[in-house]
Amino acid sequence: MAAALFPELGLSLDALRSRQLTRLKASLAHAYAHQKPYRAKCEAAGVHPDDLKSLEDMRRFPFTAKSDLRDAYPYGMFAIPREKCVRVHASSGTTGRPTVVGYSAKDIETWAEVMARSMYAAGARPGDVIHNAYGYGLFTGGLGAHYGGERLGCTVVPMSGGFGERQVQLIRDFGARVVLMTPSYMLAIAEEFEKAGIDPRSTAMRIGIFGAEPWTEGMRAEIEKRLGIDAVDIYGLSEVIGPGVACEFVETKDGPTVWEDHFYPEIVDPETGAPVADGQPGELVFTSLTKEAMPVIRYRTRDLTTLMKGSACAMRRMAKITGRSDDMLIVRGVNLFPSQVEEQILRDAALTGHYVIELTRTGALDDLLVRVEAREALAGDAAARCRDELARRLKGMCGLSAEIEIAAPGGVERSMGKARRVIDKRPKD
Ligand code: DLL
Repeated sequence: MAAALFPELGLSLDALRSRQLTRLKASLAHAYAHQKPYRAKCEAAGVHPDDLKSLEDMRRFPFTAKSDLRDAYPYGMFAIPREKCVRVHASSGTTGRPTVVGYSAKDIETWAEVMARSMYAAGARPGDVIHNAYGYGLFTGGLGAHYGGERLGCTVVPMSGGFGERQVQLIRDFGARVVLMTPSYMLAIAEEFEKAGIDPRSTAMRIGIFGAEPWTEGMRAEIEKRLGIDAVDIYGLSEVIGPGVACEFVETKDGPTVWEDHFYPEIVDPETGAPVADGQPGELVFTSLTKEAMPVIRYRTRDLTTLMKGSACAMRRMAKITGRSDDMLIVRGVNLFPSQVEEQILRDAALTGHYVIELTRTGALDDLLVRVEAREALAGDAAARCRDELARRLKGMCGLSAEIEIAAPGGVERSMGKARRVIDKRPKD
């Protein structure tokens, strides 16, 4: 069925590279002709789209950064007249102006296609009931998954986030085989199942397609065990199109396959921007190959990962994201990603995947507090053992001493969307 529904999955490496080059030339020419800020960058760097003769030449072209989108707020990066855009999305951003992205009718089609392909890779099939708990609105998660599910020929339940009890009721009553939401929200829903006394294995639910935030292999194991489903990783970002830039195959679960016929990936050194070879870690950079309304050329995602050879098809895979370069914490001079802490927490069967990292400062010294949540209330020796064990593991992993606080079940805040893992109360210097 794959070949009939998604013939691109059968492309040979040669055919893929040649298609990429043709599309890259067209996308670059389109951006140069119609995206003023990018043209200005090319002129300043002394490069012209005609200089692109091979895929390797891509590295000669300037990057696009999130700040370029902010500076062009709201419509300055659009490469077609605003009147021809059928939709905009925006990311809230933690500070200042949101980042606005626009779509032509054809872009919406492309997005639906790559989302349908992602959901297919994840194991969804035409005819399935799809429970979509990604947020609908300016966030790309809800509508992206919605259009993809419809395109694949599924029955989409446009649930959005919130109303935990209702989520459980509808997953069960509507017979959802596939659910989509952030992995942290899935854990919160697992608890709703337990509260309602419903065994998730007694429902039709078999597959969860999780993304929009970093999550570890430990979290995958936790979700799969608690809910009796396959947990599959989907990746994407608004600036590139939304969810569906890459997705894992349920058969292999070995990192999301990048849909390289639409999004050309590179890895660069996050500090210098120099290209990094496949297999080496660095920052993921994307060039859109088919987008009309807002092409992005060499967009710096700030997401840290590695590119690997394809397994289920010729297109390359990316390793699970470690974190974003701007989410990296520097604690007493040591670099630390929340995902590293998560991996250690989930090694203890007594702890859940709900956690928060809190940073404060006493005098010149950073204090690191990790608040974790016990599966069942822990007291006395059991609590002390758990605290010591985690502190020891964290120290062994990164050399930092952390204070561990064990909250009672339900004691760490739940999120409906992207979980907030870090509270940094240190004074800004
Ligand atoms: O989060 C799009 C999305 C929605 C992806 C639903 C998957 C599922 P933004 O709000 O623009 O778009 O945030 C994009 O989220 O640069 C990553 O830092 C992070 N992210 C997205 N997917 C993953 C993932 C959506 N699977 C930013 N693993 C990206 C780790 C992810 N981080």
